[in-house]
Amino acid sequence: MIYNFLGNSDMNVSKLGYGSWALGKTGWKNVNQDEAIKTFEKSIELGINFIDTAPIYGFGKSEMIIGDITKSIRKNLYIASKTGLEWSDTGRVIHNLSRDFILSDIEKSLKRLKTDYIDLYQIHWPYEGFNLKEVLNTLNELKKNKIIKYIGVSNFKINLLKNAYDIIPICSIQNQFNILQNNDINDIIPFCTNKNIGFIAYSPLAQGLLSGCFDKNYTLSKNDIRRFNPLFHNKNIYNEINKIEKPILQTSINYLLNNNVSVILISMTKEKHLIENINILNKKKV
Ligand SMILES: NC(=O)c1ccc[n+]([C@@H]2O[C@H](COP(=O)([O-])OP(=O)(O)OC[C@H]3O[C@@H](n4cnc5c(N)ncnc54)[C@H](OP(=O)(O)O)[C@@H]3O)[C@@H](O)[C@H]2O)c1
Repeated sequence: MIYNFLGNSDMNVSKLGYGSWALGKTGWKNVNQDEAIKTFEKSIELGINFIDTAPIYGFGKSEMIIGDITKSIRKNLYIASKTGLEWSDTGRVIHNLSRDFILSDIEKSLKRLKTDYIDLYQIHWPYEGFNLKEVLNTLNELKKNKIIKYIGVSNFKINLLKNAYDIIPICSIQNQFNILQNNDINDIIPFCTNKNIGFIAYSPLAQGLLSGCFDKNYTLSKNDIRRFNPLFHNKNIYNEINKIEKPILQTSINYLLNNNVSVILISMTKEKHLIENINILNKKKV
């Protein structure tokens, strides 16, 4: 496994991070949860030490599973969670970055994760009219009280990232980044490199499209979250994917390794996929 420091922090994180959205199952109905849990345990055994979650993943379920599995080895791992999305009993999701919400959100995350601190706490999604300064001040207070170690942001565009950085030297940004969705290559990644901010790439395999396992005949099940991903509705997407050098999976992971990404955050619920991804990373190292 390759390790690197995340931004200017002292967290020496694995280049391959474990993305735990599907571990919570909601939106990923085809997931076999027992197999997913075993794969997660195996990922730690094989050296992955950076785990990304969020309260919204499985409406608390992802954090709970991570808490159960990591409580006895907590100190060896870096757990990243997020704040800013609230859900109702009917499953309706709304944005909320008010101070009161953040303070209650983190209490619940700590309980579910069975820990008394979170290594990296990220603003999950910005929204029109939210108060950036107030949010960062609240997160900074949590940091001073040692409830979180580092502050991160996610889904920020360049101007918002610059505004955030002017208020507080944040540790990292987590954005969508892969061969097909690579806008950040021109502005955010150079800014991060320049300021020593960690860049965490989410959906690095474009939610599976870049895994080499998809073809034109693939159909998504009714409850699959990927129905909301515009890439899956793009009729030309398979032509674009076909232009990528084969094997596509390897080219896709190497693309991230070559572009100053600190953590490649892949969701893996099958051990076979975990091993394949680690092997590609190790090959690159040699
Ligand atoms: N900050 C945000 O707003 C945000 C948004 C989206 C995601 N994220 C984070 O990023 C993580 C990953 O992103 P993602 O789940 O959207 O997409 P992703 O990691 O690009 O794709 C996940 C899909 O790729 C498949 N896969 C992984 N390795 C494979 C391999 N070697 N061969 C074949 N298929 C393979 C997985 O299959 P199996 O399950 O069958 O192994 C899964 O279906 C999430 O879990 C979450 O932690 C953050």
